[in-house]
Amino acid sequence: MKTQVGKAEWIKEAAKLIQSGELVAFPTETVYGLGANALSESAVQKIFLAKGRPQDNPLIVHIADIHMLHSVAQDIPMEAMELFRIFSPGPLTLILKKSPDLAKSVSPLLDTVGVRIPKHELAIELIQRAGVPIAAPSANISSRVSATSASHVWEDFDGKIPLILDGGDCEVGIESTIVDMTKDIPVILRPGRIKACDLLTVLPKVQMKSGEIKLAEAPGMKYSHYAPLVRCVMAKSLESALAEYDRISAQEKPVIVGNNQFTAQCKNRQILSLGSSLDEAEKNYFQTLRKAEKSYSTIILQRFEGEESAAIMNRITKSCGGKTV
Ligand code: TXA
Ligand code: MG
Repeated sequence: MKTQVGKAEWIKEAAKLIQSGELVAFPTETVYGLGANALSESAVQKIFLAKGRPQDNPLIVHIADIHMLHSVAQDIPMEAMELFRIFSPGPLTLILKKSPDLAKSVSPLLDTVGVRIPKHELAIELIQRAGVPIAAPSANISSRVSATSASHVWEDFDGKIPLILDGGDCEVGIESTIVDMTKDIPVILRPGRIKACDLLTVLPKVQMKSGEIKLAEAPGMKYSHYAPLVRCVMAKSLESALAEYDRISAQEKPVIVGNNQFTAQCKNRQILSLGSSLDEAEKNYFQTLRKAEKSYSTIILQRFEGEESAAIMNRITKSCGGKTV
C-alpha cells in the first residue's frame, strides 16, 4: 500500500478514508493518533492489526466537541462534564461508562470507554468532516516510542496505512492524562500535562493509580511501553550517569539524555538535551529517544525529582523497563 503524507489540503480525503473504514494517522496536541471510525468494528480491527496491539488493550475515542459526548458515553457524572468544560479541548482523557453504539473492540471486556477532545485544528476538522467519533491509539508500533511528528509516524507505518495527515510537531509531546471517572474517588490512570493539582480545582479528591494493574483498570499499562530499539537505563544521579557512561564507552556508544542543567555537567561526553523547563522536557522526550536510538547503542536517562515530574518519570521508567544504574 502506498502511504501518502499530506497537510491540511488532504483533510477531505482523510475524512473520506475514515468514512470508508480505513485508517488515517492525524496530529493532536499530545502525540499523533492512528485513527479509525469508532462505530465500525472492521475499521477498529485494522488499528490492532497495523500496530500489532494486543486485543485487550482498549482505545481512546476522540470527539470534536462536548455535544458528541452522548454518542460515545452514558451516565456521565456532573464532575466529568465540568472537567470537560474546563480542560477540553486539551490533553485530558476521561474514562466513562460506554455507549452501546461503539464498536466492541474499542474496549472489549470493559463497560467503559476513554474519551477526549484533542486540541488540534486538523484533528477536530477530521472528526467533524467524518461525522463519527474516531478511535485512536498513539501512532506507533505497539511497545515502541510514541510519534510526535508526521515523519515519526512514517517511520513506523510506511506501506501499512493510506494517509498520514501532517500537522507539524506536537505541542505537548506526551500522551493525555487519563482519569477514571467511574470510581467514587476519581483515579489518575496515566499522568500527563494536566496534573493532579489542576484536577483538584474541580474535583474534591483524586487518587494516583499505584501498585498492581488489574485488567479492568488500565489494561494497556501491563504491556511494555515507550521502548527505544537500543539499551536504555535511568541514572539515579548525575554521578551514576557519568560512571555508567565511562564504564561502557570503550565498547559501546552511549549518550546521556537529560535537561540542560544535567547535560551541561557531562563535560566531553555525548549528550542530547531535553531543554530547560519540564514542559520542554515532556515536549522533546519522544523525539529525542527516536533520535538517540539511531546514533547510539545505550541511552542513559536523567531521573527527574518531585511530584510535578510524575508524567515524564512514568515514560522514563517504562522506556527503561525499570532498569536503573
Ligand atoms: O494523548 C493521547 O491520549 C493519545 C492521543 C492519540 O490522543 N492517545 C493514546 O492512546 O495515548 P494509547 O492507546 O496509546 O493509550 C491509551 C491508554 C492505554 O494504556 C489504554 O489501556 C488506556 O489508555 N485506556 C483506554 N481505554 C481505557 C478504558 N476504558 N479503561 C482504562 N484504560 C483505558
Ligand atoms: Mg500508546
